[in-house]
Amino acid sequence: MHDKTVFITGGTTGVGKGAAERLLILGARVVLLARNVPKAEAVCAEWMARYPGSRVAVIPCDLASLESVTETVRRIQEKFIRVDVLINAAGRRIREKALSVDGIDLSFATHHLGHFALTTALLDFMPPGARIVNVSSETHKFAWSFEDPLFEIRRYTPWRALLTARLCALLFTASLAETLRDRNIRAFALHGGLVRSDIAHDGLDQTKGTFRLLRLFGIDPTVGATTAVFLASSPEVEGQSGRYFKARRAVAASELARDKTVAQKLWTRSMQLLDKFKRPPRELPAG
Ligand SMILES: NC(=O)c1ccc[n+]([C@@H]2O[C@H](COP(=O)([O-])OP(=O)(O)OC[C@H]3O[C@@H](n4cnc5c(N)ncnc54)[C@H](OP(=O)(O)O)[C@@H]3O)[C@@H](O)[C@H]2O)c1
Repeated sequence: MHDKTVFITGGTTGVGKGAAERLLILGARVVLLARNVPKAEAVCAEWMARYPGSRVAVIPCDLASLESVTETVRRIQEKFIRVDVLINAAGRRIREKALSVDGIDLSFATHHLGHFALTTALLDFMPPGARIVNVSSETHKFAWSFEDPLFEIRRYTPWRALLTARLCALLFTASLAETLRDRNIRAFALHGGLVRSDIAHDGLDQTKGTFRLLRLFGIDPTVGATTAVFLASSPEVEGQSGRYFKARRAVAASELARDKTVAQKLWTRSMQLLDKFKRPPRELPAG
């Protein structure tokens, strides 16, 4: 990976941090796209001390703000000549229904729309052979339908938001693979396992539920990152663009996640949301 530059969201903790560290060890230059810059810089300082000579950088990126993502893309284009690998690993558990600064369901904005805006804006910056790796999970199989992904009608629950996020990661991967087939850019999705990460911290009692489960049974983030690293670096996955991987093997995603009509629906809706954001606000009629 010595000649590769890897950009990663969610690289300050958990699966993303594990993947970033492993790729750094493989010789890649790693750029953390992070909402908390001091935290990301502390992580880089830790790596620089542990692996002298490693090449790391931080670019601010709050996925829940389309303006922030636009600025992230501008900085990447200003400072780097290409994106060889993009790993979309950021995520968070959002307990209550909330809206992003753009007025979009916060979970959808953070998990899907921010990654969609980032990835699609960087496509022209990716050379043939580039790879996009999206973190999903086996839980996507509990998403029975794709109705109302922004919780405009449905009652919001953190579990439903998580399922929607995981399903979107797979649908987005399938659309990317299809769109980019002729450009020789690959897209993959993965399940990293139950990882002992910070995902359950978000406002939960740390002696209960998901947090306790992850602490007791979760695997180390560097182990959880194995499949992400494999997809970012191995020649073995050539020709498998669009597939979903678990433990370094391509496995079947749910029927819904493989439905091309649904994937197209998500792509169209995402584009519409980005267009709406780009347009100047409509003036209110006088009176
Ligand atoms: N852990 C598991 O067992 C598991 C299982 C299946 C799927 N996953 C999925 O894997 C992904 C990563 O989870 P994890 O377990 O590694 O969680 P984690 O340890 O909590 O890490 C989440 C990462 O996402 C970043 N992030 C959150 N909101 C962001 C935003 N608005 N903009 C930019 N970055 C943001 C966090 O940054 P800060 O440092 O600033 O908070 C952190 O780096 C999630 O999508 C999760 O649903 C995890």
